[in-house]
Amino acid sequence: MNQILVTGGLGYIGSHTIIELLAAGYEPIVIDNLSESPIEVKDRIEKIAGREITFRQVELCNRAAVDAVFEEFPTISGVIHFAAFLLVNESVDKPLKYYHNNLLSTVNLLQSMEAYGIRNIVFSSSCTVYGTPENPHVDENAPVQPAESPYGNTKKMGEEILRDQAATGVVDVLSLRYFNPIGAHPSSIIGEFQDGEPHHLVPYITETAIGKRKELKVFGSDYDTRDGSCIRDYIHVIDIAKAHILAVQHLIDGKTKGYDTINLGSGNGSTVLEMIHAFERATGLTIPYSLAPRRAGDVPAVYANIGKAQRVLNWTPEKSLEDMLRDAWNFEQSLPQE
Ligand SMILES: NC(=O)c1ccc[n+]([C@@H]2O[C@H](COP(=O)([O-])OP(=O)(O)OC[C@H]3O[C@@H](n4cnc5c(N)ncnc54)[C@H](O)[C@@H]3O)[C@@H](O)[C@H]2O)c1
Repeated sequence: MNQILVTGGLGYIGSHTIIELLAAGYEPIVIDNLSESPIEVKDRIEKIAGREITFRQVELCNRAAVDAVFEEFPTISGVIHFAAFLLVNESVDKPLKYYHNNLLSTVNLLQSMEAYGIRNIVFSSSCTVYGTPENPHVDENAPVQPAESPYGNTKKMGEEILRDQAATGVVDVLSLRYFNPIGAHPSSIIGEFQDGEPHHLVPYITETAIGKRKELKVFGSDYDTRDGSCIRDYIHVIDIAKAHILAVQHLIDGKTKGYDTINLGSGNGSTVLEMIHAFERATGLTIPYSLAPRRAGDVPAVYANIGKAQRVLNWTPEKSLEDMLRDAWNFEQSLPQE
């Protein structure tokens, strides 16, 4: 059975990926430092899977601790590297916290992989590397732009570190550039746990729907888009998770040599107002919202060309926008309400 090391495995995307790895017959070795996720997520994963998982509390910024994992599990055949800090606003206030954590963890992981002869790594990148692309229906050939935030810069620099290490021939890398992962496991047992203010649109919508927030602010209503609000590409977290299984197997099979990047999105753009109305249709609820001025740094429109993911990984998203919003809403309703 293929052992796959999953860093940041108790996080939002990691936890869903572990479920999919188990379902596909892999043995995930899950590591997390518990800085952004409670240990309780492990119990939740085990509840869905109906079995125990292998978990080690590991700080990736500690090289010796990373080495200890490869010592203990000598037959790991691939790594999926989710662990990172990802709050854009916080990264502006505390850039060094982000450079330290996101870059040192990646460097340590690559050094350990080299020392233990592990070749295959899938990296969590982001569509933020495209900035404001000339063509909003963006493919992987679009130029990478200067980052808008220290967080975005850690994704761009992370890609560069991986690309340079791949060029030495010791590692093969797929950087998956996610658009906007949303939704939750249909059981509502795992999802995007929020600690304080949501950082993404859909948790804002669900928290407004349940009454935690009075109204939703739509930032920008005069963009050159169908209805004036920003266009983004939303993709179910389970579709994202499934792409990771295909990507790591693709590397294990030796089908990507060196470094490559792949977009993961639905392939379609939705405006903020369309998302609100789709949520209202999916749930029968009404979302109070108001139009607010544009936010600095927001890209007017960006959505994924997913032809490469389809061609290279044979991956096609299966979940509809309605599935994503329904699962996000069911998850919100399952959370304790204060
Ligand atoms: N969620 C999104 O919208 C989105 C979009 C694009 C890219 N990404 C990338 O996907 C990855 C996963 O995102 P997520 O939404 O699941 O985030 P998350 O915060 O839910 O999960 C990240 C996990 O990594 C762990 N972690 C952080 N630093 C660590 C360290 N030094 N050592 C060990 N564990 C550490 C945290 O405790 C957390 O459980 C990140 O790399 C993020 O940059 C996320």
